Amino acid sequence: METTVAPDFAGKTALITGAGRGIGRAIALGLADAGAGLILLARSAGQLDETRAMLLHRGAEAARIQVVVADLGDEEQRDHAAGTAIEAARVDILINNAATVEPLGVTAAIPAAELRRAFELNVIAPVALTAAVLPGMLDAGWGRIVNVSSGIVDRPGFMVGGNAYAATKAALEAHTVNLAAELRGTGVTVNAYRPGGVDTAMQAWIREQDPDRIGTALHTRFNQSFTEGALITPERSAAALIAHLGGDDSGSIWDVSDSTARV
Ligand SMILES: NC(=O)c1ccc[n+]([C@@H]2O[C@H](COP(=O)([O-])OP(=O)(O)OC[C@H]3O[C@@H](n4cnc5c(N)ncnc54)[C@H](OP(=O)(O)O)[C@@H]3O)[C@@H](O)[C@H]2O)c1
Repeated sequence: METTVAPDFAGKTALITGAGRGIGRAIALGLADAGAGLILLARSAGQLDETRAMLLHRGAEAARIQVVVADLGDEEQRDHAAGTAIEAARVDILINNAATVEPLGVTAAIPAAELRRAFELNVIAPVALTAAVLPGMLDAGWGRIVNVSSGIVDRPGFMVGGNAYAATKAALEAHTVNLAAELRGTGVTVNAYRPGGVDTAMQAWIREQDPDRIGTALHTRFNQSFTEGALITPERSAAALIAHLGGDDSGSIWDVSDSTARV
């Protein structure tokens, strides 16, 4: 099996949203292996504690792991969480990974309030967290921001019935490349990452939905990907992201398929 040596992030601190399970948890484990201290953020305290226990089991230092429980879709909780994180440490690496795939279904039937909630979590929250950590990164002359996106942005046929998700991820990518241009020459890089089809709770949740609600095509596609074994592990996807993270690339849309990283 091919192995890619992870970059060295000794002495750095990474804030990872959605670190309680799936891709976010795997990124946390990978970054800890590369020497980073971690701030783990999500709503479910129990899942974050499980990630913390896994990190300790792998030899991470307890003092370099911080757990922050917050709903990033709630502005007040988000602001408080950002304040807690930057008080705990200078954030050198920000991985905006938490997102919702909802609302799914016929686009014209989606209430505006549900669309707003999707934008709040998938776009506003990453931008707000970036704004919170950026001054520290600029002072240090070094920072890494990664916004976890989706291949849906340029393969719309893969997810008919996921219009809100596609729109939020496209907006997140536009934000990413524009901010990268703004930050050129500062030492702070900003990139987006398309993680591939990954075997996580998000995928399982879609498979369980009523096809009458989300659309038969979407339901069938996600169930087929699973039964045909097309999904990759969170660890493999995280390794591909981390392999990119050591470089100076900025304003790129990384895709898991571009990487040779394997775990
Ligand atoms: N899995 C795939 O095939 C796939 C494909 C393309 C892109 N992606 C992207 O990859 C990222 C991770 O997806 P995943 O599959 O690992 O999803 P997941 O298994 O559902 O994990 C999502 C994480 O985000 C957290 N989260 C969700 N809502 C939150 C909120 N309001 N506030 C704070 N944290 C919240 C969840 O914890 P709580 O519920 O406890 O808050 C969880 O830790 C997402 O950006 C997703 O769009 C995934």
